[in-house]
Amino acid sequence: MNPALSRLWPYPFERLRELLAGAAPPANLAHISLSIGEPRHTPPAFVLEALTNNLHTLNSYPASHGLPQFRASVANWLNRRFALPTGARVDPDTMVLPANGTREALFAVVQALTDRSREPIVVMPNPFYQIYEGAALLAGAEPYFIPQQGNVALPDLDSVPATVWNRCQLLFLCSPGNPTGAVAHVDYLRHALELAEKYDFVVASDECYSEIFFDETQPPTGLLQAAVAAGHTRFERCLVFHSLSKRSSVPGLRSGFVAGDPALIKPFLLYRTYHGCAMPVHVQLASIPAWNDDQHVIENRSLYREKFSKVLPLLKSVMDVEMPQASFYLWPKVDDDQRFTRELFERQHVTTLPGSYIAREGGGGNPGRGRVRISLVASVDECVEAAERIRTYLSRTMIR
Ligand SMILES: Cc1ncc(COP(=O)(O)O)c(C=O)c1O
Repeated sequence: MNPALSRLWPYPFERLRELLAGAAPPANLAHISLSIGEPRHTPPAFVLEALTNNLHTLNSYPASHGLPQFRASVANWLNRRFALPTGARVDPDTMVLPANGTREALFAVVQALTDRSREPIVVMPNPFYQIYEGAALLAGAEPYFIPQQGNVALPDLDSVPATVWNRCQLLFLCSPGNPTGAVAHVDYLRHALELAEKYDFVVASDECYSEIFFDETQPPTGLLQAAVAAGHTRFERCLVFHSLSKRSSVPGLRSGFVAGDPALIKPFLLYRTYHGCAMPVHVQLASIPAWNDDQHVIENRSLYREKFSKVLPLLKSVMDVEMPQASFYLWPKVDDDQRFTRELFERQHVTTLPGSYIAREGGGGNPGRGRVRISLVASVDECVEAAERIRTYLSRTMIR
């Protein structure tokens, strides 16, 4: 048995299942799940059509490198979305690889790029997406957590000692962040790149929430833009991870990509050939029209905007909760995150996720403790109904 397996934490949703085991929620209230970050908007019809129209391609093995037309649609999207200038455009053949969702590629990249012989460290935010930690442990690296407090603060890169940076082989950033929604600005990303150059590591930027934002004139900055601003027109040391899961509400399609430095993409492709994670051809062919179209993404965002505008005023009068900068998460403060989650489920049949389950103990304690993650992924009506029930639960607890 690989001994590193015993170091893996149970996944947050397993812990949630245990926490809620034996609870008997009121049978007259329909269950509303706000715990998993799984978009439940209707997927675009043209994506589903392209998927079913291409089922005949199941008779061929897909290539790990993907179809040229898939990579072209991704490169065009990146160039358009991040306004990459001529001379610093993404080359579809050397800078893009398909991924079966960002999760798969975020995990695999650590396995591919870690040199186990040099006591590797993988640096990541805390709270964080648990795949980063599991990927580090299984690659024989030590995870190092940078605490992140509240809704806006970014992990303080300058708090990391040089002894850690010296052993760091990969830094995970997540912007917009899960669960905080905090967005990294260009100077922050440039600083990460300066450190990467100084200490010789890779920056892996998880940008799977980059298309869920609220001001159409201010989309979140991406790492590739920061690289160009720093003069790195070949995206040296940069890898970005994007997905259709949130952008196009198709989490079950398992369609994403990794893009960036061709000197990293090339060995990663070699790794992926052996790993066996080629994206099925019909999934690639369904993904092309999704990356080519921005209109459905604008409509998707307007639904999230509507949910926040209705839910937030309801919650603000009973709890300490802020509008996130981006993403579909609320990250409010509560007295005790596990008790809140269990009681809300027991009394109101609404599921949220205890913040402490998606963070680790650090110097200042567990930065997720005393917060819950609320994913506004259900329909507008369900989210409003859930907010009403949270109000009822909290007003009754206050009276007690
Ligand atoms: C921060 C973050 N990264 C990556 C993922 C994985 O998304 P997917 O594999 O569907 O692209 C998630 C999913 O919730 C996430 O929250």
